[in-house]
Amino acid sequence: MFVARVIPEEGLDAVRAVCNTDVWEDELPPPRDELLRRVAGCDGVLTLLTDRVDDEFLDMAGPQLKVVSNYAVGFDNVDVAACARRRIPVGNTPGVLTETTADLAFALLMAAARRLPEGDRYVRDGNWRTWGPLLLLGPDVHGATIGIVGFGRIGQAVARRAAGFGMTILYHDVHELPDDVTAPLGAAYATLDELLARSDFISLHVNLTDETRHLINVRTLAVMKPTAVLVNTSRGPVIDQIALADALRDGTIWAAALDVTDPEPIPMDDPLVGLDNCLIVPHIASASRATRGRMAAMAAANLIAGVHGEPLPTPVPVPG
Ligand code: DGY
Repeated sequence: MFVARVIPEEGLDAVRAVCNTDVWEDELPPPRDELLRRVAGCDGVLTLLTDRVDDEFLDMAGPQLKVVSNYAVGFDNVDVAACARRRIPVGNTPGVLTETTADLAFALLMAAARRLPEGDRYVRDGNWRTWGPLLLLGPDVHGATIGIVGFGRIGQAVARRAAGFGMTILYHDVHELPDDVTAPLGAAYATLDELLARSDFISLHVNLTDETRHLINVRTLAVMKPTAVLVNTSRGPVIDQIALADALRDGTIWAAALDVTDPEPIPMDDPLVGLDNCLIVPHIASASRATRGRMAAMAAANLIAGVHGEPLPTPVPVPG
């Protein structure tokens, strides 16, 4: 068994108890050649979103590989079709991180609106000399309109928080959801453009697919209000970052708050890094101690079931 990073003991202890386990102990992910070397001959692998699982990986692992357990709800790092062709089940960690991720999305939304990072820098840089009537003004969150793009578990959890702030809630997804889902949330369906044009806050919760790559681009940014705040806790490539930097610089939109970037980590010379109206945190949406522990237990359960030839508790659907 290869475990591609030290994960919380709720998972690691369980795996170690039943399998011969090789854990990559470094803080940084295994370099590609090392990853391929370490998975060779394994029955099961526990991967992170930083590890690419593709045909090359599967070839190197060998025909005995029985399971790929990804320590994340997202699985865009795994070629699920390639795994399916070899009858290797893939597991992920849905559900347990929903509320924690929604908490962070809402924290980013509020921090960008109320300019918390700028305020903090202002104080620490020694600029706070008096109470200022025009100092660090931003939009109200309460009573504003939020547009949630991708209305699955996490999008709906964001809507619950928005309802508490008296926000008007619009959502967009590939399909309109049934009334019994949307009515209790007070959420109304909108086309993507309608949502972008009407929302004060836009929060992204889509999977990364060919359809959602650069969903936010020059055209869709131009549809947004000049006062809009864009929040991304999904995947970095959902936003065309060059277009976003231009939009933030020239006032096409007002601010952005990003938990995810393309690439990760974001290079320090990326134009977004130099913009005061762009808040960036290092992909920490699920980073509460409890949630990371639950994710570890879930990933371990998938791994152990897979090596024993049992159905995974939370399998990724087989494509097509
Ligand atoms: C996921 O699970 O997909 C997150 O991005 C990391 O928790």
